[in-house]
Amino acid sequence: MVYVTRIEKFNAAHKLWVKDWSEEKNWEIFGKCANPNWHGHNYTLYVTVKGKPDPVTGFLLDARVLSKIINEEVLEHLDHKNLNLDVPFIPPTMLPSTENLVMIIWDLLKDKIPSGQLHAIKLYETDKIYVEYFGE
Ligand code: NI
Repeated sequence: MVYVTRIEKFNAAHKLWVKDWSEEKNWEIFGKCANPNWHGHNYTLYVTVKGKPDPVTGFLLDARVLSKIINEEVLEHLDHKNLNLDVPFIPPTMLPSTENLVMIIWDLLKDKIPSGQLHAIKLYETDKIYVEYFGE
């Protein structure tokens, strides 16, 4: 089994805020991500596919094709968007945390991988923190 990872980048705005909580509690829990007038992140997305390489090409899959799929299925919907307001498949009740985003991105890609299987989604919100999801 080999694991192939494609890295893509996107930028998006969000705000983490629970409207039933006090302002103090929102700031305490979410820190700068509670900024009332939104803020942006430069996200780095790692999509890992696992499987056996083709005996002729030596490839598990064409990395250019994987990039195209990630762009069409994910970045087209998230890049340069307000994640709280602009994305139909992020419901208004769901905060666009990195944890929720990796699960959403998994669902967008899991049936679109042309060969091999989706193994992991890893998403950096800043260069100091990332979240991984393996489908369970
Ligand atoms: Ni944030």
